[in-house]
Amino acid sequence: MSLIALGVTGGIGAYKSVEVCRGLQRHGHEVVAVMTRSAARFVGPVTFEAITRRPVITSQWKPGMNARLRAERFGEASPEPERRRADIEHIAIADQIALLLVAPCTANVIGKFAAGIADDFLSSLYLAARAPVLLAPAMNSNMLAHDAVQQNLRTLAARGVRFVEPGEGYLACGWIGKGRLAEPADIVAAALAILSPVDSILRGRHVVVTAGPTCEDIDAVRYVGNRSSGRMGFALAAEARRRGARVTLVAGPTGLEPPAADDLVRVRSAAEMHAAVTRAASRADVVIMAAAVADYTPSSPATHKVPKTDAPLTLTLARTRDILADLGRMPSRAASGMPILVGFAAETGNAAAKAREKRARKGVDLMVANDVARPDAGFEVQTNAVTIIGADGEQELPVQAKDRVAAAILDRVEQLLRARAASPVRA
Ligand SMILES: Cc1cc2nc3c(=O)[nH]c(=O)nc-3n(C[C@H](O)[C@H](O)[C@H](O)COP(=O)(O)O)c2cc1C
Repeated sequence: MSLIALGVTGGIGAYKSVEVCRGLQRHGHEVVAVMTRSAARFVGPVTFEAITRRPVITSQWKPGMNARLRAERFGEASPEPERRRADIEHIAIADQIALLLVAPCTANVIGKFAAGIADDFLSSLYLAARAPVLLAPAMNSNMLAHDAVQQNLRTLAARGVRFVEPGEGYLACGWIGKGRLAEPADIVAAALAILSPVDSILRGRHVVVTAGPTCEDIDAVRYVGNRSSGRMGFALAAEARRRGARVTLVAGPTGLEPPAADDLVRVRSAAEMHAAVTRAASRADVVIMAAAVADYTPSSPATHKVPKTDAPLTLTLARTRDILADLGRMPSRAASGMPILVGFAAETGNAAAKAREKRARKGVDLMVANDVARPDAGFEVQTNAVTIIGADGEQELPVQAKDRVAAAILDRVEQLLRARAASPVRA
């Protein structure tokens, strides 16, 4: 049984969160409802108070609530009135909850969470909580499609916040489109999946994931880079952690916030990434190379800024070391097949055939072929379409969100781990 903070915000779907609350309780969880001022215009706090059998938090200025929660939950003696007033409620509740779920979540609250604004109880709780956060956005379809909202959703996703996708259908505004609050049963299911993590063979295993581009310096201010955002690697790191793995994330320079990792190693160049991955791989069960590592680097980078002239400039590029191929030759792999190696092959056209050839040549267990020429796959987008190529066959996945692609890749990794555990000699 866990304590869940259920945030309710000012959207027409607020009435549905009563059902969400009941669903969570049916699964044995305790709920403390936190309503914004606007939410209280859509549903009366007394409804939640009756269902949760707890005071509903509608303001950060009401003393005593936290003291009461503690007294109920931990059997603490009711504190003196002075201490009660001194309690900082959002911090105390933040420490107690196993999940912060906001359903429905307005565009306004999404914006406040993304920007770190803490001007009411719910937004302060978001900042103070270390528990996982699950949001069920609901709004008019134009609001949902607006760049500002999309940018905020991306910021939160990159921070590890999880979402229950809004559904399509009739919206309260009379329009038909995407933006309707997901069904309460789906919201409850998503919450339960977070609260009771999957039983995975990855639990306790060490997984190294690389993400993002590398930057190869030409001089003190210029570099050769690529368009990788890091999103695919970040999704893999987050999913591996959700399955209980200990994750080392080696990240190249990217504007996205990396997800929580047990060990975050920031690198800039292909050489730095090579060193960091080699170090971590010796203790790893799985290495997933999702980073777009430069194949070439300027052979003699200048330490100062090279002055501009009217003459053309010729850059001589040298090959970088192939991290995946070097990992494929690790002595431990010849003996035990460990660590399991997963590579990505970003290609423009004929991706699967090229990936097949790379997998064999580099001695990699799984190669993920990625056609980056497609507008809905590869760099800088939220979705990906990949083919996972292994010794035991190929799996072509349709276009889908990168976190789902990450789950499919880790499912294949789990299969390999189970096979290695059953027969430790390499197949
Ligand atoms: C009838 C009505 C319905 C609304 N529905 C939504 C909605 O579904 N989603 C949303 O983001 N905002 C909706 N709004 C706007 C929010 O209520 C408004 O942005 C408010 O400031 C949100 O406050 P809160 O985020 O603190 O709850 C609606 C407003 C009204 C008057």
